[in-house]
Amino acid sequence: NTFILIMAGGVGSRFWPKSRNHFPKQFIDILGIGKSLLQLTYERFLTICPNDQIFILTNETYADLVAAQLPEVLKENILLEPSRNNTAPCIAYATYKISKLNPDANIVVAPSDHLILKEDVFLNKIAQALGFSSKNDALLTLGISPTRPDTGYGYIQYQDSSIENQGVPSEIKKVNAFMEKPVLAKAEEYLLSGDYVWNAGIFIWSASSLKKAFEQHAPEIATMFESGLSFYNTPNEVKFIVENYPSSPNISIDYAILEKADNVYTIPADIGWSDLGTWASLHAIGEKDADNNMVNLEKIHLKDTSNCIIHLPNDKAAVIRGLDNYIVVDDGEILLIYPKSDEQEIKQVAKDMVIQH
Ligand code: GDD
Ligand code: MG
Repeated sequence: NTFILIMAGGVGSRFWPKSRNHFPKQFIDILGIGKSLLQLTYERFLTICPNDQIFILTNETYADLVAAQLPEVLKENILLEPSRNNTAPCIAYATYKISKLNPDANIVVAPSDHLILKEDVFLNKIAQALGFSSKNDALLTLGISPTRPDTGYGYIQYQDSSIENQGVPSEIKKVNAFMEKPVLAKAEEYLLSGDYVWNAGIFIWSASSLKKAFEQHAPEIATMFESGLSFYNTPNEVKFIVENYPSSPNISIDYAILEKADNVYTIPADIGWSDLGTWASLHAIGEKDADNNMVNLEKIHLKDTSNCIIHLPNDKAAVIRGLDNYIVVDDGEILLIYPKSDEQEIKQVAKDMVIQH
């Protein structure tokens, strides 16, 4: 009954200018190992789920990219969105469709652009979560121990006491509060308090629990996708989606459901996770020199320079002196030089740049 939904429709704009609208982060071989993050994500799930139960959710503009990078995926399992409405509508689309295929479906929703180093631990936690979600009306997320007051994540506070958790396996924690993308002061407070985990953005739930949550917390979305039930898995599905999807609310699953629901659980998971969401997150996991610089080419000469991430095209050389804690990325027609500490702004910068493609 297990189905996997891989979300691959984001634009990865905090990784701009390497990640672009026409070729976002999940399709890039960011780690330089010959595979894109999407390909790595897909392979990770193949070990626990047959090919025909893995779905890729993406924007219609990336249909060819997905098909080229994942030729094994069935064409009918690539769900195309005609507009960018964030993650709640795409998850709803896939969930209502899959629940028509199999009303007892148990679903893992995963981003396509994360790094998971401890694959065995990860798969183990997923199996545990699926076991729980198949028997309980529960929305589960994997929780990651926070290491910095990052404002780009959801923060989760959970109950550690065993009394409230009666009957619940001790690894699975009932969530008290879920706060998506807090302001910096809040993120610092949560980090200091020590009883929060980050939302990994990897969710486990049954189709029926999620449909119930949509009905309760995002009825507009529920009504829209419910009304398509007679079209799903028929030739009229695409027509229904093209006509209706763009008018669904533009909201992420975190704001639409996780912040509101009171049946959220988390499994704290030490899985060697990085969401590779930003340049600093790549810097954090990459190989650095003695001054904590991460460079992608040997031809980059640094002096009095520290804590930088420098990413240049193969045919460039560079000399840099006196830079601390900066991002330097040269890609195509764009050169970005930006303080690492303000990197969350890059998303907006990318939007504002007229020459962005
Ligand atoms: N199909 C589809 N359609 N996929 C999308 C869309 C969409 O409209 N928008 C985003 N995605 C994909 C992205 O490609 C990514 O793989 C995943 O959905 C999550 O979207 P992000 O835009 O990267 O979300 P985020 O990083 O800001 O926040 C989420 O992830 C964090 C952990 O990485 C939230 O769940 C946070 O709570 C969480 O901490
Ligand atoms: Mg992300």
